[in-house]
Amino acid sequence: MRQHVNPLSKHFFEINPIPPLNEVFENPKLPLHLDIGCASGDFLFDLSLKNKDWNYIGIEIREKLVINANLKMKNRQYKNLYFSFGNANNIFDHPENKSLVDSIRSISFYFPDPWFKKKHHKRRVIQPEIINFLSNSMQSRSLIFIKTDVKELFEYMENIISASLKFKKLAKEDFLLNRSFNPNKIQTNREKYVILNQLKIYESIYMKI
Ligand SMILES: C[S@@+](CC[C@H](N)C(=O)[O-])C[C@H]1O[C@@H](n2cnc3c(N)ncnc32)[C@H](O)[C@@H]1O
Repeated sequence: MRQHVNPLSKHFFEINPIPPLNEVFENPKLPLHLDIGCASGDFLFDLSLKNKDWNYIGIEIREKLVINANLKMKNRQYKNLYFSFGNANNIFDHPENKSLVDSIRSISFYFPDPWFKKKHHKRRVIQPEIINFLSNSMQSRSLIFIKTDVKELFEYMENIISASLKFKKLAKEDFLLNRSFNPNKIQTNREKYVILNQLKIYESIYMKI
């Protein structure tokens, strides 16, 4: 399977809409967590079992990973989990997906592809356009979680999010206070690799003001 795909390729312009939430979840009224670049979905499989009071959607641009994740779903009883193939940067362009943002209370961007070369930075998943859309549409107190082992990418993501002025960076202690939902309690596959190799993890949590 290809390790990296170019999200700016025209192959990813068209997007399949995510079905109405009442068609994919047992209880569509639960708060929604979106995991952007969910890869095999292992992180969401674990998180959705650990916290059943939320619904979860994983968005992944490598279609084969989404097909495999959906195959895994068939053998198990998940009522709060859905995987969607597509480019996260385009999902909110689809008219049928716009209302999704009303249910989103939390989004994770965990270990996104770094695209090291400057000329490739525009392929990075966190871009001003998606953050501006979220800053104008997400409900207040909604959360954005970012994590990476690449310092330069971390600074790039932080600059874009803080430039919107509608997200406040939370101190770790503030976040942990009175929170029943914490996706950081589950490690992603990339995170397990990073910890095993004793690399540094850079992470932040932002809250919509
Ligand atoms: C380095 S992997 C990290 C996967 C997982 N989040 C983890 O922490 O183990 C980044 C993932 O994001 C996906 N991805 C990259 N750009 C994307 C985009 N624009 N929309 C959706 N998924 C994307 C990649 O295909 C890949 O599976």
